[in-house]
Amino acid sequence: MTVRQLHLNLFIYPDGHHEAAWRRPESQPERITDITYYQELAQRAEAAKFDAVFFADGPALADNIRYAARGGLEPITKMTAIAAATERIGVIGTSSTTYNEPYNLARQFASLDHLSNGRVGWNIVTTSSAAAAHNFGLDAHPAHAQRYERAEEFLDVVTKLWDSWEDDAVLADRESGVYADTDKIHRIDHEGRHFSVAGPLNAPRSPQGRPVYVQAGSSEDGRSFAARWAEAIFTAHQTLENAQEFYADIKARARSVGRDPEGLKVLPGISPFIGSTAAEARALEEEFNDLTQPAYSLKQLSNLVGVDLTAYDLDGPFPTEVVAPVGDRAFHSRSQLVLDIVARESPTIRQLCHRLAGARGHRVVAGTPVDIADTIQEWAERGAADGFNVMPPWLPGGIDVFIDEVVPLLRERGLFRTEYTGTTLREHLGLDRPASQYAPTPQKETA
Ligand SMILES: Cc1cc2nc3c(=O)[nH]c(=O)nc-3n(C[C@H](O)[C@H](O)[C@H](O)COP(=O)(O)O)c2cc1C
Repeated sequence: MTVRQLHLNLFIYPDGHHEAAWRRPESQPERITDITYYQELAQRAEAAKFDAVFFADGPALADNIRYAARGGLEPITKMTAIAAATERIGVIGTSSTTYNEPYNLARQFASLDHLSNGRVGWNIVTTSSAAAAHNFGLDAHPAHAQRYERAEEFLDVVTKLWDSWEDDAVLADRESGVYADTDKIHRIDHEGRHFSVAGPLNAPRSPQGRPVYVQAGSSEDGRSFAARWAEAIFTAHQTLENAQEFYADIKARARSVGRDPEGLKVLPGISPFIGSTAAEARALEEEFNDLTQPAYSLKQLSNLVGVDLTAYDLDGPFPTEVVAPVGDRAFHSRSQLVLDIVARESPTIRQLCHRLAGARGHRVVAGTPVDIADTIQEWAERGAADGFNVMPPWLPGGIDVFIDEVVPLLRERGLFRTEYTGTTLREHLGLDRPASQYAPTPQKETA
């Protein structure tokens, strides 16, 4: 497979992705509510010509906050401040279709797309944390299938809202006194199972038409949803084979719903521990793992597989037999990823916790800069990725090592840009700008 240039996205977790990063001297957990911290990270990624920075989010406090620097600033607020402090890099943030109303979300992202001059992406999630339900007046987190059903209608509504102003609806004609051509601003009159929205949006069509649609669920429902809507997919894989299977499947699904598979970029996560020798990199990873706290790691693992593991012997085997069938688990794809590790490697619970400590199931690679560049190249060449979600084990320094040592190798190999060629996130990702569904289809010229 010939490889075109890759896309690199900096996934910013407050203090870094390793669960013990905040305990290390090189991290800065004191700054996770300081906006200049995030602005500086985005500026570094922009100087290295990354496609985008990305923020995950959930509308509930993590229940293991005692042992980890989680929580902090709300994404829309953070993205606004980052857009104002940068010029070219994309800014992607998470918002939930389960715990938002489409009209509010459409306004927020249209505004962000305007104020960033077309650099915004929306990571569409149905929210994985069940705790959120109790912050929104619900007794229970809606079931997986119900969440995806609502997400489907949510996307239909926000897409109509973002399309409700045609591109040339604003005339601003001082002479005639007409500001907007109201024939080009459309009510959407949506009446559905979950939403009733008249529209139009109260903001003109934004530079990208719509934010870039990003999606991050890999279950059966998640994949079908992504094939219909997503333009970029974040995903977690441990092995090249799993990543290839996912890549081929998602591109085939896109094709089967009439989409060009090129319009959907697959970005697996990679969390690099970098050393001047492979042994040094592995030793660094060990140092981080030695700082993990079993109470935290076990809780994380228990949440992921939907089983309380606190009574089990840390140095005993993982009890696969007590895990529910996939349809009954909260985290379909990630729990399967864990069970696959268990089937392949038979780790003890402690070893499994260490395995997941680096990046919650995303691939952790410890090696020299050449090793990391080789892995990236191999995954790209062998049909597993269009780019990567770079997940530094610690921040801020962890991204500098990647930028200084790995990015130049990718450039030497012709795999990564040396300069931005576009100005919008769509242009960075090689995605088309969508036409408004309300715009008349262009007439064919008659001879
Ligand atoms: C890179 C990445 C980032 C994610 N970010 C979020 C997030 O910010 N909020 C969230 O609720 N879920 C997030 N998820 C989880 C997915 O959206 C999804 O809820 C989870 O994978 C379970 O969905 P599934 O059963 O369809 O796989 C993320 C997943 C990945 C791979």
